[in-house]
Amino acid sequence: MIFPGMVDAHVHLRTPGGEHKEDFRTGSAAALAGGFTMLLAMPNTQPPLVTLESWQNAQTRAQSESLCDVFLYAGAPANHMDQLPALAQHAPALKIYMDQTYGPLYVRGLANLMPIFAVWPAAKPICVHAEGESVALAIGLAAMYKKHVHICHVSRKSEIELIAQAKASGLPVTCEVTPHHLFLTDADAARLGPYGDVRPTLGSVEDQEALWQHLNSTIDCIASDHAPHTREEKEQPEGSPPGVPGLESTLPLMLTAAAQGRLTYTRLIELLSTNPRQIFNLPEQADTYVEIDPAATYTFPDHPLYTKCGWSPFTGMLMTGRVQRVVLRGQEVVRDGIVLNYR
Ligand code: DOR
Ligand code: ZN
Ligand code: ZN
Repeated sequence: MIFPGMVDAHVHLRTPGGEHKEDFRTGSAAALAGGFTMLLAMPNTQPPLVTLESWQNAQTRAQSESLCDVFLYAGAPANHMDQLPALAQHAPALKIYMDQTYGPLYVRGLANLMPIFAVWPAAKPICVHAEGESVALAIGLAAMYKKHVHICHVSRKSEIELIAQAKASGLPVTCEVTPHHLFLTDADAARLGPYGDVRPTLGSVEDQEALWQHLNSTIDCIASDHAPHTREEKEQPEGSPPGVPGLESTLPLMLTAAAQGRLTYTRLIELLSTNPRQIFNLPEQADTYVEIDPAATYTFPDHPLYTKCGWSPFTGMLMTGRVQRVVLRGQEVVRDGIVLNYR
């Protein structure tokens, strides 16, 4: 099967400041091996991308060091509000951390959120890390400021049901879910220990079933939330950083679901390519496509992983469907699942 280049609108590539976990080269190689030709990378780096200068430095490096197209989010500042108008001109979207998670970015309280919503332009999405009640707060702000809010990694039944109601009321809200919330539950979290620790945490079977029920309606995109941390960091006795890698497992998992009839291949392409390109107004990639063998069965991973962290919470899963070949702007960059001219 021939697919368009997949787009992952939510990844953490760790440059600058976390290059021992991942960098633009290793992260973008993992992307290509996983069928993604375009990434949107998060601003919770060190330093975080909350000033025009830090954003431009990182975007310049992304362009020169990546093997696929990489665009960077601007981070919502708690203390650099003066930077927002300039960031809004350059970055494709804004990211607001409305709940505490990995990294330094966290914007708390209405008094801090309202001016951000007032300043950010309506034409570019405001993406939010919002859990539980924060989802309702984000939807409320979308309604009051008439700004497009994109809710990241929706993980709970109550959240997806509230988003469905917001969309039915015509509010400018879109959302994404991750494969780890579709394929893993709190039972897996107990089995995986630190390797299943992620924010939002893995939900119950009931949460998981609700996400699947909304896959053909409420959910706009699948995004990996690729969040690599080293094995050493994950096994720290004093507490491990949350996050799981996903760039190389996302398309295999969704192909497996398609092979099992849980969604159509047409819907898969909407969720992983057409919709994120439209939501984030991303540029065309001419002569770019992915060749899939939808019938290949294997135990994941069947090659050494390209992500620098070197592990996956999906190791040992039986997959149906494999990325064979990737062509980016007319150039073959993956053959037989191997990233060319790389190792
Ligand atoms: O588990 C997570 N890890 N959730 C986030 O929101 C951040 C991410 C990271 O950057 O590691
Ligand atoms: Zn998040
Ligand atoms: Zn994330």
